Order: sequence, then C-alpha cells, then structure tokens
Amino acid sequence: MRGLGFAALSLHVLLCLVNGVSSRRTSSYVRSEFPSTDMPLDSEWFATPKGYNAPQQVHITQGDYDGKAVIISWVTPSEPAPSQVFYSKEENRYDQKAEGTMTNYTFYDYKSGYIHHCLVDGLQYNTKYYYKIGTGDSAREFWFQTPPAIDIDASYTFGIIGDLGQTFNSLSTLQHYLKSGGESVLFVGDLSYADRYQHNDGIRWDSWGRFVERSTAYQPWIWNSGNHEIEYRPDLGETSTFKPYLHRYSTPYLASKSSSPMWYAVRRASAHIIVLSSYSPFVKYTPQWMWLKGELKRVDREKTPWLIVLMHAPMYNSNDAHFMEGESMRAAFEKWFVKYKVDLVFAGHVHAYERSYRISNINYNVTSGNRYPVPDKSAPVYITVGDGGNQEGLAWRFSDPQPDYSAFREASYGHSTLQLINRTHAVYQWNRNDDGKHVPTDNVVFHNQYWASNTRRRRLKKKHLRYESLEGLMSML
Ligand SMILES: *[C@@H]1O[C@H](CO)[C@@H](O)[C@H](O)[C@H]1NC(C)=O
Ligand SMILES: *[C@@H]1O[C@H](CO)[C@@H](O)[C@H](O)[C@H]1NC(C)=O
Ligand SMILES: *[C@@H]1O[C@H](CO)[C@@H](O)[C@H](O)[C@H]1NC(C)=O
Ligand SMILES: [Fe+2]
Repeated sequence: MRGLGFAALSLHVLLCLVNGVSSRRTSSYVRSEFPSTDMPLDSEWFATPKGYNAPQQVHITQGDYDGKAVIISWVTPSEPAPSQVFYSKEENRYDQKAEGTMTNYTFYDYKSGYIHHCLVDGLQYNTKYYYKIGTGDSAREFWFQTPPAIDIDASYTFGIIGDLGQTFNSLSTLQHYLKSGGESVLFVGDLSYADRYQHNDGIRWDSWGRFVERSTAYQPWIWNSGNHEIEYRPDLGETSTFKPYLHRYSTPYLASKSSSPMWYAVRRASAHIIVLSSYSPFVKYTPQWMWLKGELKRVDREKTPWLIVLMHAPMYNSNDAHFMEGESMRAAFEKWFVKYKVDLVFAGHVHAYERSYRISNINYNVTSGNRYPVPDKSAPVYITVGDGGNQEGLAWRFSDPQPDYSAFREASYGHSTLQLINRTHAVYQWNRNDDGKHVPTDNVVFHNQYWASNTRRRRLKKKHLRYESLEGLMSML
C-alpha cells in the first residue's frame, strides 16, 4: 500500500521537478474563507470534560532521548489531585502506575489550575499503550503508540505545524492534520497566542490546551517555543520569560545533556531532531551554543540518517514579515548546518509557507562582498510553516521578485508532513487547508544528505540517479 502510494507520488513529484526546473514559484492562490478571529470561549471545540476536577488539556511528548518514554501532562482545574498515570498494553487493564509532579503559577491576576507532568518510561517500541488519568467519574482514558526502535531504515511520518493559535483557521489546520497519517508533530513555536489578550489572559492557554487535546493526548508533539511564549511583562510585574510555557509544556532536555528545557534533542525512528530556541541566547560561548556544538557531534547518521533542526524565526525568508529576524542565528549556526549536512530546517513565525533550495551564505562576512546565498549541495532545505492559522492573519507580502534561493511560497494556511521511507528517501508535502479537500500543494522527495551524497550516492541503483540529476539541476538555479 505504502509502496504503491510512493510510486504514484514519485511520478507526480518527477513531473513537478521537471516543471520546477525552469522557474521558482510564488503561488497565486488567494484565500478568502474564515476571518482570523479566535473561536469563542464557549465553542464546542473548547468544551471541558465531564466530571468534577476532571483532567483536561492532556498532552504527551517524548520523554527520553530514544523514544521509549513519554511525558504525560494535564491540568486539574479546581483542586490539587494525584499526578498518577495508570497504563498498560491492554485496554481496561491499567495495571502499571507512574508518579509525576504537580505545579501551578500565577500571571498577574490569572491563577492557573494544577498542572501535572508524569514520566512514563521503560516502554517497548512499536507498541500501543492505553492510559488513564483522574479518578472515579472524572477518570479519562487515552492511548498512544510508541515509535519503532532507532534504526537506519525505520520509516516514520512526522507532521509539522507552526503558529497555530485558536481561530477557525487553526481548527481547519488541526482537522486536516488529524487526517494526514502523521504519527508525531514537530511544533515550531507560537502555541496559544494568549499573550494577545489583556494581561496575557491565561484562560486562553487553557482553551488552547483543550482545543489541541484531540491530537496531543494521543501522539507526542515535540515542542518548541516562539516569541508569543516569551510573555515578558514587567509592566504587570511579570519579569521572568516563558513562564506559562515552561509550567505547561515539558521537554526531555536532560536526556540530551541540555541545561534548559528551551533547547534539546530527541531521536525518533530514523530521525535526530534538534530543537533550538530563537529567543534564548545563542551566540558563541552561550549555553545553547555550547550545547549545540556538542549535540551535533553526537549525531550518528549510521543510526539516525535524518538530521532535522527546528527553530521559530526562519533563517531564510523572503516575506516582508519578520524579514531577516533569523539572520543572527544564521550567522551563529549556518556553518555547522552545512558542515554536518543537516537535511531539513523547519521554522515558523512568518504566517505563510515557503521552501528554499539547498543554498548557503557561509562565505559571507562583514569584510567580504559575497553576500548572496549560493547553491550548496551540503546545505539544508529551509522550510517555513508558520501558517497554522492564528489570529494575526496571513503574511501576504512577499518580496518581489522572488529571490533565487526561494523555491516555492504561498500565503495561505496549512501544515506539512514528512514521511521518512528509509535511509535515502523521504516524501515531503505541504498541505493547504483547502476547505474539506486534501490538497498537497507542495510535494518533494528529499534524498538524505548523508546517505544519498558523494561516494554513497554511487552505490544507489541507476533508477535513483534520475532523481538525483534532476535535483542537481534544480539546485544549480
Ligand atoms: C498553588 O496552589 C496552592 C494550593 O491550592 C496555593 O496555596 C498556592 O498559592 C498556589 N501557588 C501559586 C503560585 O499559584
Ligand atoms: C571573509 O570572507 C572572505 C570570502 O569568503 C574570505 O576569503 C575571508 O577569509 C573571510 N575573512 C575572515 C576573517 O574569515
Ligand atoms: C528507499 O526507498 C526508495 C523508495 O521506495 C527505494 O527506491 C530505495 O531503493 C530505498 N533505499 C534503500 C537504501 O532501501
Ligand atoms: Fe512568531
């Protein structure tokens, strides 16, 4: 089934490549549906579960380095409750138990509910687990599937979502994603947009948690923060940064030797995923810089061939919105991305979709004139997926003409999926929210930067060389 689908898609992609050879593309699609307004608090999509103090806003994320653990988080709104998870491989059995911790916080005049985080570890790969939280009439039951073991050819499908918010467009994005076959989400920052409300009203963090629960309770979302998570409000007496985000969303940062939940790495199936914080210090000698230097050395492409980086502010963006905001991180890290042959860099922040060719600008410095990005086979592809659908609306002003480094761009809402087939091939698509229909608007087969290059490339069968030469042609443009 998967093989057949791949063959059909390959043909389609091949045709796209042929068409794509001659031109970069700025889509002319214009979205007219749904205004960018948040769904009302009494919307059915924010409904609270039945029962007194019932667990709500349930979300899970990877709990270790290699995918044999999850962190299960939830909120009990009315009073403290045990942070216990009962779970098992069989439905209705729940004979295993894990203990977590509870926290709460205030933000100006908002008081949070009781936020629980519970690590469930020692799990088996490729296994469905059922879990139960809460007690009596208020108990709730969910399930999740663990990933395959870390393996060079493990296939796995990620969704990529950014800047989601809680509008009717956000709902459309989430509903499309739920039908995509994605097994885990790489989230590129800007979650609830609660900071758009007076006093950063935490009630909108709660409604967002209930809204996304239909996905987050059943599959891990790999979290990253954006500027809307900073919530630095000295005028309200709130002088720490990322306060609600850090209380509500856990990350397994210690497992990757990070000193902060804001930046970390996980390995899942055949992917090594590095999460970077755009709004934490990252210049030379800072903790994030030192950590990334070490983490890139730990990447083992013989075990996890796919090297993926997530950040919020894109390094390459040809939209007027947030133009060059990722430039400082580019100056700090781009050399490493090229040196370590990163496959893909996903970002959000700009409320539109854009994909680059493999380009780099690492020869530029302040005393040399080579300031234009050039085709670079070792460079990642940069993809901006800040088009989740939040209340700020679309970023529709692209720079004109489209720069050479930009392959495809469109100002409308959607999400992406990345299906890792094996060590050499991945099928990537960006899916526009096209009102009930599934429309993969941007399709690319990516060849692994480590396994499909140089000497390894020669070992590939002849039929694959066809794709390679086409891609090579494209990257020359
Ligand atoms: C946390 O909850 C406890 C128990 O209800 C309460 O006494 C305390 O003030 C709360 N702390 C914060 C920071 O809201
Ligand atoms: C600046 O860039 C030029 C051109 O790439 C290079 O020759 C030169 O060595 C660079 N200068 C420094 C100090 O790295
Ligand atoms: C990976 O999958 C592709 C597409 O099915 C196939 O053509 C290729 O031979 C596979 N590569 C390896 C190394 O198995
Ligand atoms: Fe943002």
